[in-house]
Formats: sequence, C-alpha cells, structure tokens
Amino acid sequence: MTHIKIDPAIAEALKNFTLPDNLGFGQVMAPVMASCIYENGRWGQLELLPYGPISMYPNAKVLHYAQEIFEGMKAYRVGGLGPFIFRPDENHLRFNRSAERMAMPHIPIELFMQASLEVTAYSADFVPRRSGESLYLRPFMFATEEALGIKPSEKFRFMVIASPSGSYFSVGGLSVFIERHSARAFPGGTGFAKAGGNYAASLLSAIKTKNLGFVQTLWLDGRDKKYIEEMSGMNFFAVINNELHTPEINDSILEGITRKSIITLARDAGIKVVERKMEINELLEDIKAERCTEAFACGTAAIIAPIDYLAEESGERFPLKDHEGKLALQLREQLLSIQEGRSTDIYKWVVNVEPKSLPKNL
Ligand SMILES: Cc1ncc(COP(=O)(O)O)c(C=O)c1O
Repeated sequence: MTHIKIDPAIAEALKNFTLPDNLGFGQVMAPVMASCIYENGRWGQLELLPYGPISMYPNAKVLHYAQEIFEGMKAYRVGGLGPFIFRPDENHLRFNRSAERMAMPHIPIELFMQASLEVTAYSADFVPRRSGESLYLRPFMFATEEALGIKPSEKFRFMVIASPSGSYFSVGGLSVFIERHSARAFPGGTGFAKAGGNYAASLLSAIKTKNLGFVQTLWLDGRDKKYIEEMSGMNFFAVINNELHTPEINDSILEGITRKSIITLARDAGIKVVERKMEINELLEDIKAERCTEAFACGTAAIIAPIDYLAEESGERFPLKDHEGKLALQLREQLLSIQEGRSTDIYKWVVNVEPKSLPKNL
C-alpha cells in the first residue's frame, strides 16, 4: 500500500458525525473522503479529508465538456460483520474501461483499492447494520484543467465519497416504461462507460416516466429502437420458458457487476442463461402468452428488483405473471447473503475491510 496523508481535521469530522435513523439512498454522506490529483502525467499523493466542499475554477473542463466517470459499490456490515466490499476489483476494471473511453488516465489498482478501503475503514462505525442496508461507495474522476479549448484535460482529480444508505427501493411494485423515442446511448457512443453524460441523457425520460406514473425507464437500442438494452441504472433479465434471458452486452450497454454475478449464480444452480439480442415486441408477446413469467432489474443499488409490469406511452400494460419475482427473490437472497457475509463466499467475491479508528498522534 502506498502512503496516505491523513488530514488531522478528520478527527473532528468523525467525532461530530452521527448516523441518522432515516437514511434513504445516497442522501447522508459519510464524514470522510479520499482525494488524489493527477498532473504532469502521474498520480500524486492519496489524501484522506473531512467530507466537504471542493473548489475548482469555473473553466475546469469537466464543467463544460463532461469529462467525468464514476463507479458505485457497496460495503456491508450486517449484524456487525465486515465491512465487506463486493467485487471492487471488477469496479476497478470497469473504471479503467470508462477512463479509456473518456480519454482519461487509468487509475492503478492500488490507488483505487486504498482510497475505497480507507474511506470504508474510517466509516466502519457508520455502516448501517440491517439487512439490505450498506455504505454506498462512489469513486469518481473528473477533468480539472483550467482551459476552455475542446481538448482532453491534462489534469484530473480522483475521489471516493461514501453514503450510509438504506435499501434503494422496497421489493415489489416496479413499473417499467418502454422508451420508444429517446436514446441514452448508441453504437460507437459511450453507453458502455459509466460516464456522467450518459446519465444526463437519461434524465428527461426519467421525468416523462414519472409523469406517466411509472418508476423506471427501459431503454431500447439507439439506432432501431427494437432491441432491449437496459434501465438508466440497472440491467434487465426476463424468465422465458424457465430460462433466464438477458440482452447480450454491446457498446451501448453498461456491463453490470450484479448482472455478471447473477449469471454465475444462476448457471451454477443449473439454470440456463441466454445472453442474446432481445426484441421488445417479441418479449411483449411472450409476456402476453405467459411464456415470459417474470422479469427483473438488477444493479448495485437495488440488487435485484422484480418487475410488476412493462408499459407503453399509450398506457397499455403488460403485467408479469410472477410479478412478486420467484426466481428474482431466490437469486437476490443468494447474492445478498454472500454480500453480507452470511454465506460462504465460494467465489471469493468479498473483500473484508479492517475497521480503523484514528491514529493516536492525530
Ligand atoms: C446504466 C447502468 N446499467 C447497469 C448498472 C448495473 O451495474 P452494477 O451491477 O455494476 O451496479 C448500472 C449501475 O451501476 C448502471 O448505471
């Protein structure tokens, strides 16, 4: 591990922090954050700071050209075990894939892990302990070079912030709006990267989805609007003829770590998993004919959320027969019990973090 510089002000920040009863998702921030600056072609020293405002110039490139990427992962401490971080090595690989696409420097694995682990270790007392709750970790990197030319930045800042969080949403009642007009991503674009701009592109449809009375937007391929891609922050699965089907990965779908883990768990449980191009109209026929009995969304935040029904802009609904999520809930429990350290981690997916208190000399 490289040396980390700890700001003495974190002592006060840690002492003054209390975990509120009502957490929500991503609303309460842990009192410490990690930060590291890239300039002159290399990463500088990693620092641990009290959580708080950061300053940058109004001409920092991120504010104009959206050169920004992020990750999302969770540390669990259910019943006082852990904290356990789920598959951070996968988040690191994806972070660097996103960095490449957005013309940003790679983050060395040691830096990514140390920043994430230190924030988790010092926040260990603030990781909520009930099942489904966690410390949501948000590593991110943005362009800080002060210049308005449309050129890749040569200066960046990498940070990790964290949020003690409740469940993302309660299981049940997930309604999904089929977005047949707008696109969040398209072939050759940035959809496979976890870049801020992709999420900005999804927000107008999020408003439309909400105004129509639905919860999540389902994106189709950007060119033909024919094939299912994913939700704005989750991947998509359907149970068809007792097999698990999911859109195959392409450059406009974000390859979820939850998706990848579900495929492994399902295959090892003897369930046939099919990764293919999934036509939306064919799926709707399969739902009507009850060949498709169940569908669910999955991602770090929500883990696995069974879908109640799919809906068109006209209001037409396609309810799933097993909307309470038979297989979804079985997989959810299997996955969550590994994440929370309640079952044996045969896949070596979980990283155990040693809780830290402040060194005496601070
Ligand atoms: C667009 C998008 N798709 C899918 C996912 C699910 O990915 P993961 O399971 O790694 O959280 C996310 C969330 O990270 C996302 O933002």
